[in-house]
Formats: sequence, C-alpha cells, structure tokens
Amino acid sequence: MNDLLLRALKCEEVERPPVWFMRQAGRFLPEYRKLRETYSLPHLFHTPELAAVVTRQPIERLGVDAAILFSDILMLPEVFGYTVDFPKQGGIHLEAPQKDVRYSVPDTLHYVRKTIEILKPTLSVPLIGFCGGPFTVAKYLKQLNSEWLEKITEASVEYLLMQIEAGVDVIQIFDSWSGLGEEHEFYTLALPYLKKLVDALRPTKIPVILFSRGACRFVNDLAALTPTVISFGWEEKITSLRKAVPSHIAVQGNLDPEIFQGPRAHLECQVTELLASMKGERGFIFNLGHGVLPQTPVENAQAVVRLVQGVAKDKALNHLP
Ligand code: CP3
Repeated sequence: MNDLLLRALKCEEVERPPVWFMRQAGRFLPEYRKLRETYSLPHLFHTPELAAVVTRQPIERLGVDAAILFSDILMLPEVFGYTVDFPKQGGIHLEAPQKDVRYSVPDTLHYVRKTIEILKPTLSVPLIGFCGGPFTVAKYLKQLNSEWLEKITEASVEYLLMQIEAGVDVIQIFDSWSGLGEEHEFYTLALPYLKKLVDALRPTKIPVILFSRGACRFVNDLAALTPTVISFGWEEKITSLRKAVPSHIAVQGNLDPEIFQGPRAHLECQVTELLASMKGERGFIFNLGHGVLPQTPVENAQAVVRLVQGVAKDKALNHLP
C-alpha cells in the first residue's frame, strides 16, 4: 500500500509530497468520456461496478498517490427526496420533492457503500471519501437557512460515517462556495456546520481534509476547527499559507487549474517553482486549488505527477495498462 498521503497528512517527514487532483475522477480522461458515450452520469453514479472503474482510472493512467471516490456532493439530497440530473448542455438540475421527506441515509446511498466495498481490496493507494460542505449543498438546494443546514449536516455525518465504515481512508469536505461570499454568511451559515462535521468525525480518527474556496481569508477560523488538512485555492502562495497554519495541520494545494491546462512549458515551470518553495516542509499535499478543468490535456497531468514524484518518465507511467 502506498501510504505516502497518510504519512504526509500527519505531518510526518516524507520522501516527497503526495499528489492527487480534485475532480481527477471523471471530467478529463478520454477513457471516462468513452464511458459517458454509453452511460448517463446518474447511471454511472448509481452503479457501483462502474463508479469503481471511474475511480480507478486516474490511478491507472496518472499514477497519483490517492483515489477519490467517483460520486457527487449532490447525491446526498436524494435523502430528502431530491433527484439530481446533469443536462447535456452542462450544469446541474435538482428536482425538489412534492412534500418534505427524510429517507434513511444507508438505504438511500447504499450504492456508495457498495462502490467503496468493491474498490477497497483492489486499490494500492488510500481511498478518499467525501461530502459537500452544508453551506454549498444548501446553496444548490436554494435552502440557505438554519433548518436545512442542520438537516444537511446531520445527514452528512451519517453519510460520512457510512463511508468510513465501508472502508475509506480519508474524508474530504468540499465546501466550494462557503468562503466566497459575505463574511457574516461564512460565520453564521458555513463555519458552525463545518465545525459540527469535523467534531462528529473526530472519534473515528479518520483524517479530514477541509476544502473551502476562499479559505485563505478565513485561515485562522478553519485552523481552529483542527481538521487534519486544509485545502487552499490559489489566491495566496502555499508557502505563506503553510506559515499561517499551525504546524500540526497539513496544507493541500494549490496550483491554478488554468495553469494546469497549459501551455506545458509554463505549467512545468510553475510546478517546479511551487515544489522548490515547499522543499523540506512537512505536511504538504500537492493538488490544484480547485477541480481539474474538463479541457485539460492528460499529458499535462502526467507531466505534473512526474515532476512531483521526481521520477523518470517510464517509471511514473508504470501503472499504464
Ligand atoms: O474529485 C473527483 O474526481 C471525485 C468526484 C467528484 C465529482 N463531483 C464528480 C462529477 C467530486 C468530488 C465532485 C464534487 C462536486 N460536485 C463539487 C465540489 C467541488 C467543486 O468542484 O467545486 C460541486 C460543486 C459539485 C456539483 C456538480 N457536479 C456540478 C455543478 C456539476 C456539473 C458541472 C461540472 O462541474 O461538470 C457536477 C457534475 C459532475 N460531478 C461531473 C463529475 C465528474 C461531470 C461529469 C460529466 O459531465 O461527465
């Protein structure tokens, strides 16, 4: 088992930073697009054998140091009777139920448990499970109020505990929208619910990565929740973020996804610089500042993995089928 991620997030001294990419599963790999010609997105999400295949694709193609479960933060609202669809022209469509319902989390999201159970014995890297931050999920549901934030938080805790029981090694909370709005919204509608999530997971001792876009502004507040890792956008240099975060909390990030799209020479230059700036630092996980953009060439991702892993081309690609 490649446990580099698990050691780095405990801020242990490691031979090199681990690397994986948010939204590595789905989106940009040709083998994923090929699957999408046959299957709709909801079908892929709901079929454990297929979701497991998509989860493994970036491991096989890129040799990244972690797998992230192929699912979506907007599957959770199925618990409240919502159906989610992804229209051809892009974006997301959520259909609210006729009346308020609250189904059981393990029954409704059993296919996620099954996906994890299929994946675990086949993976040689840690598996990251996840959920959306309550603020972000509530925003998509157009229910940004305390009643819904409570309901979403409580269901998310149950959902994450189910994922942990099924075997995920790490949890990431994607609160993509929480840090981007008004300050008072962050303090009243985002932070208290993130705290509840992190606190509820603490007894499991499973590492928690907290991703809040705009986190730089609220670094002290997020650090006060004592997640295992804080994942940052690219607004600030990772070196100053490393300094701002207490040394027992790891940092993840933070390459600009636009730079990841190329041109390659500029990309390689930026990655080399970022790596050099963090050389010798403990508690650093290489990632993007947000998800991989759909047009990103696979070769760019392979080149970045090679640079971070510091190995010869053929060695980095030894996972290729
Ligand atoms: O990181 C991974 O690779 C794991 C899988 C994953 C997906 N979505 C699959 C997906 C994860 C972690 C997410 C998180 C997610 N989903 C977030 C938080 C992170 C972020 O990027 O901000 C959000 C806000 C969503 C909601 C969502 N899902 C939207 C708005 C859309 C449509 C637009 C888009 O980004 O493509 C999705 C669809 C979605 N979720 C795809 C994938 C691979 C698109 C796949 C396709 O079009 O075939």
